Amino acid sequence: MLLEVKNLKVSFKTADGIVKAVNDVSFSLNEGQTLGIVGESGSGKSQSVFALLGLLAKNSMVEGSVLFEGKEILNLKPKEMNHLRSKKMSIIFQDSMTSLNPYMKLGDQLAEVLTIHKGMSYKRALVECLHMLDAVKIPEVKKRMQMYPHELSGGMRQRVMIAMALLCKPKLLIADEPTTALDVTVQAQIMALLKELQKDLGMAIILITHDLGVVAGSCDNVLVMYAGRVMEYTNAEDVFYHPTHPYTLGLMKTIPRLDMEEKELNLIPGNPPDLLNLPKGCPFAPRCFFAKEICLQNPILEELNSNKKRACFAPIDRVLRNY
Ligand SMILES: Nc1ncnc2c1ncn2[C@@H]1O[C@H](COP(=O)(O)OP(=O)(O)OP(=O)(O)O)[C@@H](O)[C@H]1O
Ligand SMILES: [Mg+2]
Repeated sequence: MLLEVKNLKVSFKTADGIVKAVNDVSFSLNEGQTLGIVGESGSGKSQSVFALLGLLAKNSMVEGSVLFEGKEILNLKPKEMNHLRSKKMSIIFQDSMTSLNPYMKLGDQLAEVLTIHKGMSYKRALVECLHMLDAVKIPEVKKRMQMYPHELSGGMRQRVMIAMALLCKPKLLIADEPTTALDVTVQAQIMALLKELQKDLGMAIILITHDLGVVAGSCDNVLVMYAGRVMEYTNAEDVFYHPTHPYTLGLMKTIPRLDMEEKELNLIPGNPPDLLNLPKGCPFAPRCFFAKEICLQNPILEELNSNKKRACFAPIDRVLRNY
């Protein structure tokens, strides 16, 4: 097992009270596997992975356990965490423009990763960077190394970000909505590229996305999150063909289908709850088509089979019949 996250909780102290952003999340990941994390905006996807990487804001409090290669990493000292981040885990953020230094040539930014973290000479680092930019299919690599970030298109910049994250050949790559800022064709190219590099390097990926369609094509397992909780945890195919949680069902129905008129596109009514003031029981109940009295109690994340967990009281066949 590469990564084992148990009962992860992240909350933030604010002037208005405690924001409960991640509530008791558990999952695991084998080497080379891909886990998708999906859920609406604010469901706790990013904070869950930021906790793994020690990237939470100052006002955060974190509980639980994160084993990476069998070692607890949740409360590592900054120096040890830095070491881990530069050697074994990396992250690609959503917005390449805010993650790259606008005043530095791309070649220098990339080389710095290797000179600082791996102690490589500048000259050798540049050669490695050329190879990596080649691997992420950037044309005319030598010319690009002399450019500044704003001289590249969004898709190209995202490729540079991927190259940068992969320079240290991580065992775990976390991709936090790596393609949302890009148009659909470029999205597909970037996803295909990630898959290819994953195979070559044998790395595991955690892919955060709003888009269940992307998950089906590229993940082994999926964690569906709502209000910081796990609603459903299952294999990617299953989520596509047999969504058994009403929330997953709602997300599936928001994917446009060719055989449907646009006006039939179902959106989940209502809004996610206030994390300062979570409702009693299931947090999704106020928006749920299947909600009953019992939903005022807390549904436990029940193991339906070795590959599937669900936190819901609604009978599965009733949910499936509505798909
Ligand atoms: N430093 C902080 N202080 C208070 N609340 C915070 C802080 N950082 C994040 N939050 C809150 O934590 C919740 C979860 O945020 P998170 O970034 O994990 O959402 P997300 O699922 O990644 O959403 P998106 O899809 O929009 O990126 C949000 O309600 C957010 O406002
Ligand atoms: Mg996020």
